[in-house]
Amino acid sequence: MTDRRIDVAAPEGRLLVFTPGLGAVSTTFIAGVEAVRRGRARPFGSLAEMQTIRLGKRSAGSSPAIRDVVPLAELTDLDFAAWDLFPDNAYDAARRADVLGRDDVEPFADFLGSIEPMSAAFDHSYVRNLDGPNVKTETNKFDLAEALRTDIRDALARPGVSRGVMVWCASTEVYLEPSACHSSLAAFEAGMKDNDPAIAPSQLYAYAAISEGVPYANGAPNLSADFPALEELAADRGVPIAGKDFKTGQTLMKTALAPAFKARMLGVRGWFSTNILGNRDGEVLDDPDAFKTKEVSKSGVLGTILEPESYPDLYGDLYHKVRINYYPPRGDAKEGWDNIDIFGWLGYPMQVKIDFLCRDSILAAPIVLDLALFLDLAARAGRSGIQEWLSFYFKSPHVLPGHLPEHDLYIQHMRLKNTLRVFAGEEPVTHLAEDLYP
Ligand SMILES: NC(=O)c1ccc[n+]([C@@H]2O[C@H](COP(=O)([O-])OP(=O)(O)OC[C@H]3O[C@@H](n4cnc5c(N)ncnc54)[C@H](O)[C@@H]3O)[C@@H](O)[C@H]2O)c1
Repeated sequence: MTDRRIDVAAPEGRLLVFTPGLGAVSTTFIAGVEAVRRGRARPFGSLAEMQTIRLGKRSAGSSPAIRDVVPLAELTDLDFAAWDLFPDNAYDAARRADVLGRDDVEPFADFLGSIEPMSAAFDHSYVRNLDGPNVKTETNKFDLAEALRTDIRDALARPGVSRGVMVWCASTEVYLEPSACHSSLAAFEAGMKDNDPAIAPSQLYAYAAISEGVPYANGAPNLSADFPALEELAADRGVPIAGKDFKTGQTLMKTALAPAFKARMLGVRGWFSTNILGNRDGEVLDDPDAFKTKEVSKSGVLGTILEPESYPDLYGDLYHKVRINYYPPRGDAKEGWDNIDIFGWLGYPMQVKIDFLCRDSILAAPIVLDLALFLDLAARAGRSGIQEWLSFYFKSPHVLPGHLPEHDLYIQHMRLKNTLRVFAGEEPVTHLAEDLYP
């Protein structure tokens, strides 16, 4: 224990987890939490629920569970609220998404059936492969944001609920760059009133959440809270935000493997990544503008890990290609292939092949849980604005202005755990072992 201890308010009352989107990821997350709290499953994949954290020297043998050193909300204290343009409740949506088998859905049919989506702030021009009836009728973007704020306030008024957190689990929107309306809060509010086309629905949800004091994380790659206007709002309101694009399958592997090549000074000539997936997410990504959003997010990771500017001989000519192919027969069971052309001593070429038969939503659900629990912790610890320490969970980490995103999975992991140590009033672990030397 050190004098670093910061006051973290106790998690009193229930935590309401808002998810824009009641599709594959969010229903798998909600059904999974219910399965865990009924003792029918273990929360595999969740650091917040399962991982230990070393305190002090290794020889001290102190490695309690993360949940025992920082005051996280209990799973039994989580409630759920969602928006979707399809009116299916969480039971019907889970059956439709077909990620979980009947045995993992039927026992919770009543619970899942009780979660009805609120009407969505949706605009077909930002997700062109979808259309649905459960949408808000306001035509002005500022009015839509106000309607979302009303939804949030009404939901937070549920008995026993003391606070909320929002994780965007809705579809990937078309690619947008920050523009003039994103440059300040005043410009953004004026832009909403003028129906500026650069303002997509996900930005309205983020604005509404932050305005209502609800921490916000973006699980998709689209521009949502990662621009000055909402960064300013989050800092002003004292609300933590994080993003973007859950790091699940192929990028998880990429950001685990690339640091190994660099650590051993092995060169990389080419990295070809291709995927097949057949869920609704895949259908949305079949639109070239939505795919561009994902492609930009997936492509950025190698540059910052391999640093070609420092190692031009090793990584200067790297050819990196990412493809996503919509292939309905696979449903949520995505398959991702990587062919990596590397070279070593005297330039001799070698190849690494990865064939990851993964399940998208099974990998994403525990990330939603961890983000909800850690953002709520951050809020109670008085943190506000961009939470870089949660980069571990994202393909395109949202970082402070002037900072470079960190993509190396191991550095991200160390940073996450050291931040938790600081929250717990403990010394960060540096692995220096200084006490071994006189
Ligand atoms: N599963 C993964 O491994 C993974 C990884 C990274 C990112 N993501 C992202 O997570 C998101 C969710 O993925 P999924 O597989 O659950 O997709 P999904 O299509 O099953 O669910 C998304 C839901 O969002 C709804 N929606 C779209 N726009 C909305 C809006 N404006 N308001 C409310 N609801 C809206 C859709 O109707 C749909 O039901 C996607 O953006 C995906 O790209 C997923």
